[in-house]
Amino acid sequence: MTTHHPGAADFLPPRLTLNTLVRAAATCTGCDLHHLGTQTVFGEGPTHARVMMVGEQPGDREDLEGHPFVGPAGRLLDRALAESGIDREDVYLTNAVKHFRWGRLPGKKKRIHRKPTLVQVAACRPWLDAEIKVVRPEIVVCLGATAAQALLGSKFRVTQHRGEVLEVPDLGAPVTATVHPASILRASDDAARRREMDAFVRDLTAVRRSVAA
Ligand code: URA
Ligand code: SF4
Repeated sequence: MTTHHPGAADFLPPRLTLNTLVRAAATCTGCDLHHLGTQTVFGEGPTHARVMMVGEQPGDREDLEGHPFVGPAGRLLDRALAESGIDREDVYLTNAVKHFRWGRLPGKKKRIHRKPTLVQVAACRPWLDAEIKVVRPEIVVCLGATAAQALLGSKFRVTQHRGEVLEVPDLGAPVTATVHPASILRASDDAARRREMDAFVRDLTAVRRSVAA
C-alpha cells in the first residue's frame, strides 16, 4: 500500500513571513521524509538578504541541530564565503528539501546521506518558492545539482553552466548555480580539492560582485 502525501502546498500558512513559514514547516508532512528526519530544517538568514543560497537537504548534523549548513559541508562553505568576501550573516541559506533523507548499510549504525528523489524535491518546492517570495533576493545561488535541477530543470548540468546567471519565469529572482561544497570535500587529493575550492570561490566572488553594484 502506498501512502498519499500531498506535498508542502497544503501546509503553507495564509500569511507568508519567515516566522509563519518556519512554524508551518515544522509540522509539514507533505512527503514521506517527515518520518525519517528528526525535524524540519528550514532556511535561515536576513529577511531581505540580497543573496539566497540553496543546498540539497540537511545532512546528519543539520538534522540533529535543526540549522542549515552546520556540519562539514557548512564549514567548507564558511571558508569559501570568507575567501569570496561574503559575510555568511548576510546570506539566506536554505535547502531544496527540508528533511534529511538517509539510509543505513546492513549492520551499520551510521546514517548515510541519500539523494532526495524528484518526487520529494517537488513535494518540498512550495517552501522554497515561499522563501524566495518573502526574502526577494537579488540572486538565488544553487549549490549543486539537486538545487539547480529543482530550479532550472532536470536537464541542467552544473558542470556545463556553472556561474551563468539565468532568468526563470515567475520565480522572482535570477538564478545561478555552482557546485555543492560537499563535492569539494570528496575531491580525490589535496591538489584537486584546492583547484575545486578556487573555482567555487571564483563563482561566489562573481555572485558578490553581481549584488555589490
Ligand atoms: N548539505 C546541504 O545541502 N545542506 C545542508 O544544510 C548541509 C549539507
Ligand atoms: Fe514537508 Fe519538505 Fe519535509 Fe517533505 S521534506 S515533509 S515536503 S518539509
